[in-house]
Amino acid sequence: MTAPAARRSAADGGPHHPPPGWSPNSWRVRPIAQQPGWPDPRRLREVLEDLALLPPLVLPGEIEDLRHTLARVAEGRAFLLQAGDCAERFASCTESGVRGRLRVILQLAILLTYGSGLPVVKVGRIAGQFGKPRSSPTEVVDGVELPAFRGDNVNDPAPTPQARTPDAERLRMAYHHASATLNVLRALTKEGFADLNRVHAWNQEFVRRSPAGQQYEAAAADIAWALRFMAACGADTARMQAVRQVQLYTSHEALLPAFEQALTRRAEAAGAWYGTSAHMLWVGDRTRDVDGAHVEYLSGLGNPIGVKVGPSLTPADLRVLCDRLDPDHIPGRLVLISRLGADRITDLLPPLVREVAATGRPVVWSCDPMHGNTFRSASGYKTRRLADIIREIDGFFAVCGAEGAFPGGIHLELTGDNVTECLGGAEEILDTHLSRRYETACDPRLNAGQSIELAFHIADLLRRHRAS
Ligand code: PEP
Ligand code: CO
Repeated sequence: MTAPAARRSAADGGPHHPPPGWSPNSWRVRPIAQQPGWPDPRRLREVLEDLALLPPLVLPGEIEDLRHTLARVAEGRAFLLQAGDCAERFASCTESGVRGRLRVILQLAILLTYGSGLPVVKVGRIAGQFGKPRSSPTEVVDGVELPAFRGDNVNDPAPTPQARTPDAERLRMAYHHASATLNVLRALTKEGFADLNRVHAWNQEFVRRSPAGQQYEAAAADIAWALRFMAACGADTARMQAVRQVQLYTSHEALLPAFEQALTRRAEAAGAWYGTSAHMLWVGDRTRDVDGAHVEYLSGLGNPIGVKVGPSLTPADLRVLCDRLDPDHIPGRLVLISRLGADRITDLLPPLVREVAATGRPVVWSCDPMHGNTFRSASGYKTRRLADIIREIDGFFAVCGAEGAFPGGIHLELTGDNVTECLGGAEEILDTHLSRRYETACDPRLNAGQSIELAFHIADLLRRHRAS
């Protein structure tokens, strides 16, 4: 999984070096948003000191591999699929839990590859996506005001003052749960489970009967046939690494710089610094202040950095943010993730794309069609309509096409389970169905059938974009 930095071509640039004055803790003097009120600062310090002594979760060589792969996305030669839970739970760190989440990512990736003819870079919101920014620091439950749930790495969602009190020990648990998740992921992606010869086995029984599942079965049969064709031509597909293994990278929102700092390591050979809690880190829409702590921290790392681009970000501010995070225009360094909402994307995205294009910077444009389309349904559930999600993606492809930019990626909140959290789809999930299996710890996720349906739609858009 690691690759020595030395074998990379100079043409891809990088690695990114920190700006003058940066250090892993230089964020501490900046204003910071969305932090828990830790009740015991001494305990917090001890946990962070312990974490700083533990091994990195991912290695600099892997991180550089991802950056080089994203450089190909920026050139239009590959497509980025970034997907997973809104908020990962410690309790879902089980073998079957991890297997289920990997399975749906593999299904989507193969459909996108099959439909578009492009390699798909797979990045999970996984193995560390524990922390959540909140619109309000407190919520009222049964008349009692409680601190909001900020993710398993901070507090517990149970509606009691004790459960909601931030506990620094949870940061240690976050490290160990991420480590255990990565361990299973590394095993499953290297042996057996991810083998393309098992493409049918990724379709779970409950999905198989659905319209999307049946469409998947037909695509899987074609892929199996193509593999037999290759074997008949003499290719030993049972042994080919490209058929038997996949590379899954990890990512999460770098919401807690104190935690990230404890896992920041310097790679002596490259002379660069890396956040080693995940391959890719992103800055959320609520914490992307160019003078704030989060951007300061991320500005020094060599990792690919995602930036959530919400409706309040002006083209001029986006330019300043890009200059700050990527002064050297390093290919694969920046992934700009638009989350503008289905109604506004066609108005708001064009000037943003133009502004970045004017800098000549080779960024990846990716579309998060989830976070701009959340609302509370009549029955009181936080939800999203698959139709809005599709409309935002359509808008994204249309704008990129018109502006001459490559629609490079998609950022989804999904699960391989049969949940009822988002409305619509071939199975026509209605507001009255949401209570059946509404299990998310934060935002509503697409279920397996809705995700597969969406993958067919995106593959189609990609194919058409490439043909135009
Ligand atoms: C998220 O990705 O879960 C999230 C909170 O997104 P945003 O920062 O775009 O609102
Ligand atoms: Co979310």
